[in-house]
Amino acid sequence: MKKLVVFASGSGSNFKSIIDAAEEGRLDSTISGLIASRDQIGAIEIARKHDIPWKVIKPSDFDDEQTFGAALLHQLDQWNPDLIALAGYLCKIPEEVISHYPARILNIHPSLLPRHGGKGLYGHRVHQSVIDSGDRTSGCTVHLVNEVYDDGPILAQREVPVLKGDTAETLAKRVLKEEHDLYPKVINTFLKQKP
Ligand code: GRF
Repeated sequence: MKKLVVFASGSGSNFKSIIDAAEEGRLDSTISGLIASRDQIGAIEIARKHDIPWKVIKPSDFDDEQTFGAALLHQLDQWNPDLIALAGYLCKIPEEVISHYPARILNIHPSLLPRHGGKGLYGHRVHQSVIDSGDRTSGCTVHLVNEVYDDGPILAQREVPVLKGDTAETLAKRVLKEEHDLYPKVINTFLKQKP
């Protein structure tokens, strides 16, 4: 059985959709652990409920990116994942982690990248940016993580319409529904293709 580790910073609804997929036999992987960038987030509650080991590793507790990266690698070593899935993780992944897991870190972003991605574009800011730009279509993107925010090779996208009168909240909700369906599927396909 393959092993997956999830990184999260927030409510963890994507994390929950991955757990649901695993529990319902739609994911050929166990979820070995959750790395949280903050205390008391929804994702930790979800991990507790589902008996998934979790660990808080905050970038602010470290002097620099290298020591933060070393702490992440130390924890990842214990869980030895085949794949890492970022699910609403708001911190930059240190380079040493990326090079330790080449082409084994996925992210989901709530827009059709390369539109509305990059540093500072997270959460409702993404959806506000879509609305302000006048785009008629938005969606979500699953991509491989590299050293640049939201820049790695795209693996899959799902579109949703931007409706007249949409707010960042209403658009976020429509996109999130697709994220929950798309991400576990892409993770599963990706894991199956990996040796
Ligand atoms: C999602 O929209 C995801 O695309 C983005 O952050 C949000 C996380 O939501 N990276 P949740 O914590 O999974 O509910």
